[in-house]
Amino acid sequence: MARNGKLHNVLVVDDSPLMLKLLEKKLGDYRLKVHVAESVETALDILKQIPIDILITDKIMPTIDGLDLVRYVYENHSNTGIIMVTSYASVEGAVEAVKIGADEYLQKPITDEKLFPAVERVIEKINIRKSQSVDNPQQYRELGGIIGQSPAMQKVFRAIRKAADSPATVLITGESGTGKELVARAIHYNSPRKDGPFVSVNCSAIPETLLESELFGAVKGAYTGSTETREGYFAKAEKGSIFLDEISSTSLQMQSKLLRVLQEKEITKVGANTVQKIDIKVIAATNKNLKELVDEGRYREDLYYRLNVLTIDLPPLAARGDDVLLLTHFFAQKFAGEYGKEPPTFTEDALRVLKNYAWPGNVRELDNLVQRLIVMSEKPSIDVADLPQHMRYTLQRTNNATKSLLQVEQEHIKLVLESVNGNKTQAAKILGIDRKTLREKLKKHAII
Ligand SMILES: Nc1ncnc2c1ncn2[C@@H]1O[C@H](COP(=O)(O)OP(=O)(O)OP(=O)(O)O)[C@@H](O)[C@H]1O
Ligand SMILES: [Mg+2]
Repeated sequence: MARNGKLHNVLVVDDSPLMLKLLEKKLGDYRLKVHVAESVETALDILKQIPIDILITDKIMPTIDGLDLVRYVYENHSNTGIIMVTSYASVEGAVEAVKIGADEYLQKPITDEKLFPAVERVIEKINIRKSQSVDNPQQYRELGGIIGQSPAMQKVFRAIRKAADSPATVLITGESGTGKELVARAIHYNSPRKDGPFVSVNCSAIPETLLESELFGAVKGAYTGSTETREGYFAKAEKGSIFLDEISSTSLQMQSKLLRVLQEKEITKVGANTVQKIDIKVIAATNKNLKELVDEGRYREDLYYRLNVLTIDLPPLAARGDDVLLLTHFFAQKFAGEYGKEPPTFTEDALRVLKNYAWPGNVRELDNLVQRLIVMSEKPSIDVADLPQHMRYTLQRTNNATKSLLQVEQEHIKLVLESVNGNKTQAAKILGIDRKTLREKLKKHAII
């Protein structure tokens, strides 16, 4: 008798080698991946290393009791189902086991008729549990594959819906790697234009001399070598949306041409003397502060106001709380799937380090890190030692109840600065203060 489907990890704990052998054979034949431990201590080691789906443990064990193991697993491994085995028929024992977290209770002798249905019931239970747990990002996969349940991201989701419903131009701002392109796609694919094209143009990647013809198109003979009339990106986006990425990097001359598109909804091909009406939604993005550029005279104020009708500001990853953990699990599942591996688990310490890290490269940095971990590591469990050196220091922080507020502030500012390699804009953002306040504090604390 063998089951189909996913190969689940089972850990059998019993101080009798004979009993272990018997269960190992039965469960192995049933097509489960079996791990065995003769003591609770060994079981704890295995639990740290391998994501165990089902724990089958004897109730009475020498040194540490089986009930303590059940209690521990119930509290620390919420995705592990528990079957408790006992030699004595006792109603109290069963009640106690279930009360502290066992899912099933089996009395020896263990027959196939008792064992396999119990295993099936537990698998079903853990599947339901997993689908409801916060470890499962599926249910948080809001619009267009954007993962996040922090209040900051909930606000972003609401803004995306509003932007999708409105014909207005949308400006997406946020540091590099915060997901601006993902948001732009989500807006398009949730808008009435979703069946039209989504055209993405990175304005900073196209040389200034080519940008005009790339965006607006060019007629035959407009410049040397143009042997036929070409459509530009704006025309290609007809009845859909155009995503103008890195909108801050355009010249003042190009800015006035863009302004005309937004105001008149018409374009002129390079070398043409007729205008062409277009029906498109414009979504723009920048990781620079456009208002600052306007103040410095490097960006047209009228274009800024035209772009800035609906703005979505993406928070840095460090300001998204537990989303870091959700995203870690999401990327682990995703890349494990892509590389044909089992997704690894992360130790609590490793997760703490990830959560406390400043993430200057935002979601893209986390995305790359998890991918690297999965490619490089064969281990089922990722611990602090597997993480890059520069992330690890966060764990060494200790609580010291003898420090003054001033001292704590000084140390914390240093720590944050260190984590972003001295980038003050980034540090100020994480600290939730403006750059001027940060400068004052640095002076006060004689840092730098
Ligand atoms: N909330 C999220 N959930 C899932 N994946 C995300 C999320 N945010 C970003 N990503 C992923 O992170 C990577 C970077 O996102 P994206 O390219 O949209 O960032 P960006 O803000 O446009 O960055 P840049 O300014 O550097 O162009 C992509 O692979 C994207 O799929
Ligand atoms: Mg981008």
